Amino acid sequence: HDYGLLVVGSANADLVIGVERRPAPGETVLGSDLAVHPGGKGANQAVAAARLGARTALLAKVGDDEHGRLLLTSLRTAGVDTVGVLVDKTPTGVAVITVDPSGDNSIVVSPGANARLTPDDIRAARTLFALAPVVSVQLEIPLETVTEVARSLAPGARLVLNPSPPAPLPPEVLAACDPLIVNEHEARFMLGESAGEDPHDWAQALLALGPRSVVVTLGADGALVAFSHGCVHVPSPKVAPVDTTGAGDAFTAALAWRLGVGEDLTAAAAFAARVGAAAVTRRGAQESYPTVGELPGGGH
Ligand code: RIB
Ligand code: NA
Repeated sequence: HDYGLLVVGSANADLVIGVERRPAPGETVLGSDLAVHPGGKGANQAVAAARLGARTALLAKVGDDEHGRLLLTSLRTAGVDTVGVLVDKTPTGVAVITVDPSGDNSIVVSPGANARLTPDDIRAARTLFALAPVVSVQLEIPLETVTEVARSLAPGARLVLNPSPPAPLPPEVLAACDPLIVNEHEARFMLGESAGEDPHDWAQALLALGPRSVVVTLGADGALVAFSHGCVHVPSPKVAPVDTTGAGDAFTAALAWRLGVGEDLTAAAAFAARVGAAAVTRRGAQESYPTVGELPGGGH
């Protein structure tokens, strides 16, 4: 394989304001100075994998504007192959993000050019798919494009899907996921009222929806890895969180890459938990991603 990982997904400029607390409806609060960071779940994943040393390509769409150039610079600096990053007349996607003192974030995404990444763009990128043992995708691009991704995998290639922001998934896409990676919000969305409170139950109920494997991320509590014959808890190293933005993307990218180099899902998730923990200790998404040498507990 020429690539360790192919990521298909969004690229956004993140407009970030620190707040003491989020405003209630109708309320105004003052926040920090505005920071503009390269983000978007797809671009974040690509940068995270490349920082770890994976040969990574991104298939995405940005605008011909300042934000698009910010993203291309970040991707290229990290070593991501940007041959699949298409430039459109529509403005680059934007995420408006507030970060509170505990490091938690709230995000509103305006998709912009991400909404123009079409199934035809996926079909036109067949050569990238042929070179990738693992393809990772999220839901900040149109659902029909995600469906085309699931149909475009090379023989034996694996699909890693994080349904964020959550949306109902066609059975065909669910069946291709190996694994489906969800956090608490996404698990509750997919399972609805019947979800209950136990993440072990979420994992089993999600498996019943069709994916070959499931990973439930639990923030500081690590992750649950579930396949047909069992469920394993993977811990996360303890760190002091500064900004959790994009930590899930780093987790997913790290896991996807390690699967592609032949690691089993539990070992890949344990490695990914260390990458996600490192990412929450620094501000921003892409700028916060570690190299292997920067991981808590040392590299390996
Ligand atoms: O997962 C974090 C990302 O979500 C941010 O970078 C923002 O752009 C949104 O896509
Ligand atoms: Na971060």
